[in-house]
Amino acid sequence: AKISVIGAGNVGATTVQRLAELEPGEIVMTDIVEGLPQGKALDLMQAGAINGYDTRVTGTNDYADIADSDLVIITAGIARKPGMSREDLIKTNSKIIGEVSRNIAKYAPNSIVINVTNPLDIITYEVMKTTGFEPKKVFGMSGVLDAGRFASFIAEELKCSKKDVEAMVIGGHGDLMVPLPQYTTVSGVPLPELLSDETIAKLVERTVNGGAEIVELLKQGSAFYAPSAAIVRMAEAVIKDSKRILPASAYLEGQYGQEGIYFGVPVKLGANGIEEILELKLDENQYETLRNSSETIRKGISQLEI
Ligand code: NAI
Repeated sequence: AKISVIGAGNVGATTVQRLAELEPGEIVMTDIVEGLPQGKALDLMQAGAINGYDTRVTGTNDYADIADSDLVIITAGIARKPGMSREDLIKTNSKIIGEVSRNIAKYAPNSIVINVTNPLDIITYEVMKTTGFEPKKVFGMSGVLDAGRFASFIAEELKCSKKDVEAMVIGGHGDLMVPLPQYTTVSGVPLPELLSDETIAKLVERTVNGGAEIVELLKQGSAFYAPSAAIVRMAEAVIKDSKRILPASAYLEGQYGQEGIYFGVPVKLGANGIEEILELKLDENQYETLRNSSETIRKGISQLEI
């Protein structure tokens, strides 16, 4: 497969590194900064000789080089600084992503697109509208990361292996995300059987603030190791057509009582993108948070200049 990663910053370059190690085919990395994607690509090519991969990685400032990509991953734009919400990024990132989307439509019209740029659900909507691609071919990465954070806090609390925890988080990628303890299991055992409601609530809160906790510690930039791991899990499902069930920011057409917006839901992912949206039964509080979450996303969409 040919994969293009737009944006050679922290998330983009780490994603390319993880992908290159899997030998998925050819990888192109682009950025507006001259020399940045080229330099990182050379470095990653040389790592292949030591790590044992033959993936061809090239860096470019020219969109023509993404021609005929099977998969395009968008990571271009600015990240949060301490005290900022993801929504504070709308103006700057929507301008960048408008240009990115028009180039994807021009050069890689048959690609599947995974958006990572924040505010996630709002920008993913912009990508779908601006490329004009079918909604099932455009989706966002959020829930795999949020669920990974939840799972890691659960494993820490239970002092058990992270490998045994399967968590589920849906809703918007922000303060109104909805971690779902009743659909979270540890080796098949539902979480509410293992931890008190109080402890679960504490872990849910830490998950919701998981990104901000890292932003505060770093003082510059935001998380990228776990985000790139989450992106690669989704990219692999597309490249291998593996039909994995994963949370993704998907375009809703009536599911969960929502129409015409993107937010996180469990989906089946394969070579054609989102093959199915799974509708889970939620409790009243969770529906309520989803409704509030959708309001924030709608407000953000109305601020887009598209
Ligand atoms: P970064 O600042 O390290 O990298 C961003 C890169 O985008 C820079 O190299 C910059 O030159 C490039 N860029 C800017 N304008 C561009 C344009 N017009 N065309 C091509 N490239 C352009 O930022 P980082 O940490 O890599 O984050 C990237 C984005 O991903 C941010 O919006 C961040 O909020 C988001 N993010 C989303 C996550 C999620 O869960 N969905 C998780 C982590 C980050």
